Amino acid sequence: MILGIGIDIIEVARIHASHEKFGERFLSRILLPNEISYCLSHRTPAPFLAVRFAAKEAISKAFGTGIGAQLGWQDMEVGRKESGEPFVILHGGGQKLLHQRGAQSVLISLSHTQDHAAAVAILESGT
Ligand SMILES: CC(C)(COP(=O)(O)OP(=O)(O)OC[C@H]1O[C@@H](n2cnc3c(N)ncnc32)[C@H](O)[C@@H]1OP(=O)(O)O)[C@@H](O)C(=O)NCCC(=O)NCCS
Repeated sequence: MILGIGIDIIEVARIHASHEKFGERFLSRILLPNEISYCLSHRTPAPFLAVRFAAKEAISKAFGTGIGAQLGWQDMEVGRKESGEPFVILHGGGQKLLHQRGAQSVLISLSHTQDHAAAVAILESGT
């Protein structure tokens, strides 16, 4: 059963500018180490960074909490299967919310161009 849905779109240039200005400090506030190394493995990391930023906002909308005290940036991680398919790993506050909602997982789909990055998240229960 679908318990929640969230969507987000972001301008890649905005994330590029924050990365340029704040560097590693910005990355490690928003992303986890595996996410950072995946993004930085690309010659142009900005769209990959931006879409993970969008993914976290979309997940926060699926929970209905936004990003803040209940659900922090580091409570959500975008993993990547060998096929390239992304998946969501929840930590701390994210796990807590998942259990509170009686949900089983969060599904995610990502898309990016040079200019924009977008993500959709679905909160689902097992039944
Ligand atoms: C919920 C959140 C993700 C919305 O994102 P946003 O970038 O402000 O706004 P968007 O244009 O993507 O989305 C706006 C829509 O989100 C939806 N929305 C707002 N609060 C929401 C919530 N708690 N749950 C689900 N959806 C919500 C609304 O439909 C809203 O549209 P409306 O204003 O026309 O009603 C945002 O409030 C948030 O928590 N952002 C994190 C902020 C932050 O830390 N930024 C620092 C950047 S380093």
